[in-house]
Amino acid sequence: MPERAASIETVEQFDAHLDGKRLIVCVGPGGVGKTTVAASLALREAIRGRRVLVITIDPARRLAQALGIDGLGDAIIPIDLSELEAQGVEVRGKLAAAMFDQAESMDALMTRVSPDEQTRQGILSNRVYRAMAGSLARSHAYLAMERLHEVMSGDDYDLVVLDTPPARNALDILDAPGRLTRFLEDGVVKWFVTRERKGLAGRLLSGGGAAVTKLFGMVVGRDLLDETLAFFNVFYELRGGFRERAEAVQAMFREPSSSFVLVSSTETTHLDDARALAASVGSRRVALEFAIFNRAYERLEADPSLLRTTVPADLDAQLEAASAGISDPARALVPALRAAVAKAAAANASAVAAVESIAAELPGSCVRRMVPSADHDVSDLRGLAALAPHLATAPRVLADD
Ligand SMILES: Nc1ncnc2c1ncn2[C@@H]1O[C@H](COP(=O)(O)OP(=O)(O)OP(=O)(O)O)[C@@H](O)[C@H]1O
Ligand SMILES: [Mg+2]
Repeated sequence: MPERAASIETVEQFDAHLDGKRLIVCVGPGGVGKTTVAASLALREAIRGRRVLVITIDPARRLAQALGIDGLGDAIIPIDLSELEAQGVEVRGKLAAAMFDQAESMDALMTRVSPDEQTRQGILSNRVYRAMAGSLARSHAYLAMERLHEVMSGDDYDLVVLDTPPARNALDILDAPGRLTRFLEDGVVKWFVTRERKGLAGRLLSGGGAAVTKLFGMVVGRDLLDETLAFFNVFYELRGGFRERAEAVQAMFREPSSSFVLVSSTETTHLDDARALAASVGSRRVALEFAIFNRAYERLEADPSLLRTTVPADLDAQLEAASAGISDPARALVPALRAAVAKAAAANASAVAAVESIAAELPGSCVRRMVPSADHDVSDLRGLAALAPHLATAPRVLADD
């Protein structure tokens, strides 16, 4: 049994818990920092010594560039961490990244599952497949699942961190396998395939079905109808493999070595989405072990682990003492500084309250973390590394008024 997440307070406990994980899936509302958190966590684990793959979805351009995966289709790219090493970070493991390029992922999948070269050629050049590849692949989730199956079946990585598209489709990854299997088993595919097997298509297109022939001829043409039948036929033939992999991934999501991480901001609309997501994850019997509230507070203290929620009562006296002896123009800045501190402290207090308000809706064992707005850009390795410690430890709340 994995250590109960509720007991995770220290970095050591966090590390020990993560050591037991092989798969981490980041879900959350749009734009809250899922991709950033996924990349930061993956980098942290690579620095600690694990062989990590982060699979990102539509990363912001600058992050993709920083990871070296910009414009490289869906290939898995080893990330060069020497820049961090040059800054004195001891990197013990390895990081690789991939992003989803939907059409390429679909082609790569069909290439993998084709039993022979002829089938592969047949599928990839099939016009119906080409037309449908985009929409088939639009189910990001399905491809993500196949991709996951591929990397998790091998022994190249100790940990895979999977990013997901925004909330609306976040849980497709949990539902995609069933949907695809149903499509293959009962849906259109079977209809086409059975009819082809019975030779109905042939009959339709010869003498007896003249009207239908004409109709098909007008709409798609005989060649295209043949290609349609061939396309569905191939899918039907491959259905066993699709189903097996789908079931394997479904089982994997529910293993103790898999964790879902909910990422949210502390804004009301995002928190509403986050609550709904937490409930849907739970109802699918998948463990939600971490909730990360990103950009949840402004740093007001030099110590990054401190989160100040109120303005200290003696702030005026402190400012007065600090400004003694400085010039009048500089002294004139003091009220503005004071106002800025008060504003940030009020925002931090309401963020803490917002995080507490969602506590009841999260599983009791769910570890909650608040991550500050970064002072610097988080779209490079350095920024990602700077964010990581906040994922591991909860900030200490400092409230003195
Ligand atoms: N803690 C942070 N401090 C400052 N900026 C951040 C922080 N976290 C994320 N960002 C920035 O916020 C933006 C959105 O982050 P990100 O792309 O990770 O969100 P997302 O949830 O993956 O978005 P989408 O739903 O569109 O995929 C990025 O520009 C990122 O650099
Ligand atoms: Mg993203």
